[in-house]
Amino acid sequence: MTEILIQKAYNEVKKYRNKVINDPYRLRYHLMPPVGLLNDPNGLIQFKGIYHVFYQWNPFETTHGAKFWGHYTSEDMVHWREEPIALAPSEWYDRNGCYSGSAVEADGKLYLFYTGNVKQEDGTRETYQCLAVSENGIDFEKLGPVLRLPEHYTSHFRDPKVWKKDDHWYMAVGAQTLEEKGAVALFHSKDLYNWEEAGRIAGSGMDGWKDFGYMWECPDLIHLNGKDVLLVSPQGLEPEGDFYHNLFQSGYLIGELDYKRMKFQHGTFTELDRGFDFYAPQTFTDKSGRTILYGWMGITDELEAHQPTIVNRWVHALTIPRELELHDGKIFQRPVKELEKLRKNQVVVETNKFEGISAEFIIDFVKTAPFRISFRNEAYLSFDAERLTLKRRNLMTDDLESRTCKIASVSKLQIFMDHSSLEIFINDGEEVFTARYFPNPNDAMISMEGEAEFKLIKWSLGDDGE
Ligand code: FRU
Repeated sequence: MTEILIQKAYNEVKKYRNKVINDPYRLRYHLMPPVGLLNDPNGLIQFKGIYHVFYQWNPFETTHGAKFWGHYTSEDMVHWREEPIALAPSEWYDRNGCYSGSAVEADGKLYLFYTGNVKQEDGTRETYQCLAVSENGIDFEKLGPVLRLPEHYTSHFRDPKVWKKDDHWYMAVGAQTLEEKGAVALFHSKDLYNWEEAGRIAGSGMDGWKDFGYMWECPDLIHLNGKDVLLVSPQGLEPEGDFYHNLFQSGYLIGELDYKRMKFQHGTFTELDRGFDFYAPQTFTDKSGRTILYGWMGITDELEAHQPTIVNRWVHALTIPRELELHDGKIFQRPVKELEKLRKNQVVVETNKFEGISAEFIIDFVKTAPFRISFRNEAYLSFDAERLTLKRRNLMTDDLESRTCKIASVSKLQIFMDHSSLEIFINDGEEVFTARYFPNPNDAMISMEGEAEFKLIKWSLGDDGE
């Protein structure tokens, strides 16, 4: 069963390879599905020196379905190898999807925790938190479910993130309470196989906190600069001022997890990204001690079915890796240093019009003043009156749509453009805007207007020799 399913997926990759790689919107330096649909990053880890990125993958369609775990490895997070499929939805406990999860190393082995998703014929959903193990980091053996659904949650219970603290293992699971409020459930274990419930560490309407969504997906608890930070992707928030304009959000709560009482005291929710396409991020700590984040550069919204890459049998990508730091109660995100290896043809730009398709820019502002940048006549970044706005064309209406954030001044922009994506880092990662956009493939024109004085350095990235 497993072999047949995996073979079917490889056949699909082979069948559509030419179509996929010749798509003018195929990206040059981002991780993408070889065919079909990619969503969340999963199982991020540096194992025996090698970086592993797994991802939610439907090889058969460009819609959501019974997910596989696709797999890429790298020595430097720049050059990637496509590895054999890690997990396929082949067993009674995961037959409708090997859903999102995480990786840990123990006794020199790589363990994957994931959600086995099962849908019965009458539409009811079952969820099993499952384990798989590998000696070499490439071939995985499924060990089956290690945690059943506790009775005080609905079957929207998924995305186990496991970590070690002192001699204990902990697992955070994204959950929905019986009152249909989003929450994070915590479990602990001595051996990775036997799990005990520790409590609910955060949730919508909990501990006097306001209502905050009907489901929380993809929790991730990390330690940054002496604080515990819970990353989570809540569903069901209404827009509020400049916030929560995407269908679903991803952000974080800063606090302290009391491991004895299993209580997490935390502050308010801050969004991680201010653009259009960012969801379900996950982090890992590498051997150098950096906390590195990958997000899904996409989201399940009404525009998903209108992505122009679908005609060429693929959809979505992951973000570039970002290093996280916590300063003054805020997460700063910066592209990892290794990405400098992609840089070619450095140019100091001294005009207001120049070209770029797959490129990086660093713009240092000598004096803050209003400006407007046009990216290939299809997306626009502007700053005025302490507001930074990104506009792009909506794939359904063809009108420009915008996302805005308040920021006192803009002293630096670091911009990663790829053939159909923009990742814009403001003031060394104080804010980030991530977006897909689909310009005319031949239009490479970038122009800057306004009174701002700046120094601009540009590199071409990838292999198209701009
Ligand atoms: C988030 C998510 C997860 C789930 C996975 C399924 O995008 O819905 O909660 O595990 O995607 O692909």
